[in-house]
Amino acid sequence: MRSLCVRVPTRETEKVRRFLASKNLLAPLKIKRCGDYVLIPVRESVHGFEICEDDFEPLQVTSQKVGSFDIVGDVAIIKSAADRDLNKIIRELEKRKNVKKIALDRGIQGEERVRYLELVKGCSLETMHREYGIRLKVDLSKVYFSPRLATERWRVVQRVKDGEAIFDMFAGCGPFSILIAKYRKVTIYACDINPHAVAYLKENIKLNKVEGVHPLLGDVRDMARLVPPVDRIIMNLPHSSFKFLDMALNKIKKDGEIHYYEILPEKHNRREDLQNFARKIGKDVEILETRKVHGYAPGVSLYSFLLRVK
Ligand SMILES: C[S@@+](CC[C@H](N)C(=O)[O-])C[C@H]1O[C@@H](n2cnc3c(N)ncnc32)[C@H](O)[C@@H]1O
Repeated sequence: MRSLCVRVPTRETEKVRRFLASKNLLAPLKIKRCGDYVLIPVRESVHGFEICEDDFEPLQVTSQKVGSFDIVGDVAIIKSAADRDLNKIIRELEKRKNVKKIALDRGIQGEERVRYLELVKGCSLETMHREYGIRLKVDLSKVYFSPRLATERWRVVQRVKDGEAIFDMFAGCGPFSILIAKYRKVTIYACDINPHAVAYLKENIKLNKVEGVHPLLGDVRDMARLVPPVDRIIMNLPHSSFKFLDMALNKIKKDGEIHYYEILPEKHNRREDLQNFARKIGKDVEILETRKVHGYAPGVSLYSFLLRVK
């Protein structure tokens, strides 16, 4: 596959790869050796590097584990599998009655966090997922969705009281918003920058016959002005939540709660960072809870922080 790439001396491969990964610029293709240099495929031109173009092979889904997969509706997404085990896993999945489509996970890309999925069975990635009594229609090739957050979403519902105003800043196809609206009488402003996500969110509102959810299509930085002060904010953009924290702290009412998610290494000081940042902009934040939601990569996990703004 043809792709843009950065050309760096071999000894700098890991440093540059990590930098590009942190900026979400890596293309899901194999890094290529070229004499004393490597070519690292990227999604767009990167300032400060030598940029060229070349052909690359797709990444293999590899890990030390025999294999792991997620089921979303009738789609099985193979997240990791050693090459030698891949066919075995596919055969096993094909035996499951609930699995009609199978795809290989080649990684998440872009601001819209859409999964790059390679279909090995079936012809579309639109599906209907069920969790905690709601139905969510979503096309996994166009919109981010993770079934691994189902318990987390349910935990959030438990904290919500009738009458609350809620801002779901990165709503996707609506898993948090729809679930909350199903079980509580609330007003929810559900924002997403991805037009496909908002289209599915609107469809899911109708499908579940829920009231009080107001979809907002656009960058949350622009859409926030349409949202009044709220009692609760959900920040599920785990690679870049910190960038949006000031906006959330300015939008939350006194004694309101923020559900903040971030992917972090095992050793981190995020509790302190969050409190220090809030103090800097004149807010007093209490951290009611910190939890590891699930593993993400070796030594890295998705964490949830529950913040109360005093
Ligand atoms: C990790 S997904 C979470 C989606 C949903 N909350 C869920 O649990 O499935 C993050 C979402 O934020 C959206 N997003 C990213 N940057 C955004 C921005 N600046 N403004 C609004 N939405 C944004 C993406 O399109 C994506 O759907």
